[in-house]
Amino acid sequence: MERDAAPSELRTSRLVLRAWRADDREPFAAMNADPEVMRWIGSGPLDRVASDGLRARLRREWSRAGRGLWAVERGDDGTFLGFCGLTDPAWGGPGLRDELEIGWRLTRSAWGQGYATEAARAALGVGWETLGLHSAIALVHPDNERSLGVAANLGMRVAGTTRHAGTGWEVLVLRAHRPADTPGTRGPSAAPG
Ligand SMILES: CC(C)(COP(=O)(O)OP(=O)(O)OC[C@H]1O[C@@H](n2cnc3c(N)ncnc32)[C@H](O)[C@@H]1OP(=O)(O)O)[C@@H](O)C(=O)NCCC(=O)NCCS
Repeated sequence: MERDAAPSELRTSRLVLRAWRADDREPFAAMNADPEVMRWIGSGPLDRVASDGLRARLRREWSRAGRGLWAVERGDDGTFLGFCGLTDPAWGGPGLRDELEIGWRLTRSAWGQGYATEAARAALGVGWETLGLHSAIALVHPDNERSLGVAANLGMRVAGTTRHAGTGWEVLVLRAHRPADTPGTRGPSAAPG
């Protein structure tokens, strides 16, 4: 059960996770049009209209739920890098609707520098400490090694598989659990599994 709203802005040592702005539109569309970035995303590359539609949906989720995917920018120069955060699973079989999905997508030039791991750690911290989550999932194609690397860095474990309705892909369900030492955790019953 979610408790409080997530902060609209989070800072890590190198990154700012922040609310979406109008000037994100162009770099967001460029990222979503890159076939390499979108290789393991069920939709495939997005055209401008679809990218704008996704951006609107991400903003609506923040308004409705008080949390969602933050825009991620580099702290020292403000470059838009992509997104990361906790979101309603876009798809997933029965039983996966009760948990939030931790999602990450970065523009290609930002890969391989530990940014996704850094952003996702901060997002999960909000999940545990502010939203009061007990677990979170990631849905990752088994060939998406970079994404699996991020999940491994976060200590996520494979919990099963589910099928992507659009593509028929069988993808891995990975799960992270609220750490027992999270502030506000009372006893083992608060952290099932
Ligand atoms: C997945 C993605 C967000 C990773 O971003 P990133 O900032 O490069 O990730 P990180 O550097 O934090 O971690 C990547 C990990 O993957 C692993 N990795 C990196 N490059 C790899 C490669 N070529 N092959 C296999 N594993 C690799 C490493 O274990 C690395 O962790 P490390 O810190 O131990 O070195 C980025 O590649 C991306 O946006 N991909 C396209 C969108 C996408 O697929 N999103 C996820 C959908 S489930």
